[in-house]
Amino acid sequence: MRINKYIASAGFASRRKADRLIADGNVKINGEILREPGYEVMPGDVVHVNNRVIKPKTRHTYVLLNKPMGYITTMQDEKGRPTVMELVQAVDARIFPVGRLDYNTEGLLILTDDGDLAYRLMHPKHKVTKTYRALVAGDLSRERQAQLRKGVDIGGFITSPAKVEIVKVKGRSTIVDITIHEGKNRQVRKMFSAVGNPVQGLVRTAIGELKLGRLAIGHYRKLTKDEIEYLKNM
Ligand code: URA
Repeated sequence: MRINKYIASAGFASRRKADRLIADGNVKINGEILREPGYEVMPGDVVHVNNRVIKPKTRHTYVLLNKPMGYITTMQDEKGRPTVMELVQAVDARIFPVGRLDYNTEGLLILTDDGDLAYRLMHPKHKVTKTYRALVAGDLSRERQAQLRKGVDIGGFITSPAKVEIVKVKGRSTIVDITIHEGKNRQVRKMFSAVGNPVQGLVRTAIGELKLGRLAIGHYRKLTKDEIEYLKNM
């Protein structure tokens, strides 16, 4: 990329101003003042403007998918099962899923090509909350709700306090919203099994304040500017 365009795409100045900065000797490539206005920036070049390193802003893609049951959350599957990537084929970017949802879990899945954001959303230290709506077998008694809120043993791991809200009783099952901030393998299923109410259906409805909303199953949309800002500041 030509140096003036590089400076402009870093959001530092217009191309015209960039040319001025170059002419005035305020641009350095790898520590040396640049004398050549048509310089093509090479991968690995370090560009300074006014003695500060600059990097061009790359535009990332952020997609929110309502994952259906029966899709695996990986780029490929050696067993040939359908992957979520098949649902976002039309997206013109090298996006990948942020974290996992089980094969049989539905709901909110973010896909992006922003590695930094993906890393931050997944790292346990950031305690990003995830809300699920679960259909569980039987009646979730007050005692069992209290156990889930306090923390349960899911095979050598005691879960952190969770938010638990009964939505309604449906026949012999119960619909319940649960919010956790950990991401152990099959955690929600294991938590409900631990108190004796196995999960019959599971949908992730939110990550932090980012909501699945009314998006149809199997459909996706791009995140809005505000949603992207929100995730970045989480
Ligand atoms: N917890 C589960 O058990 N399954 C998921 O897919 C996500 C959270």
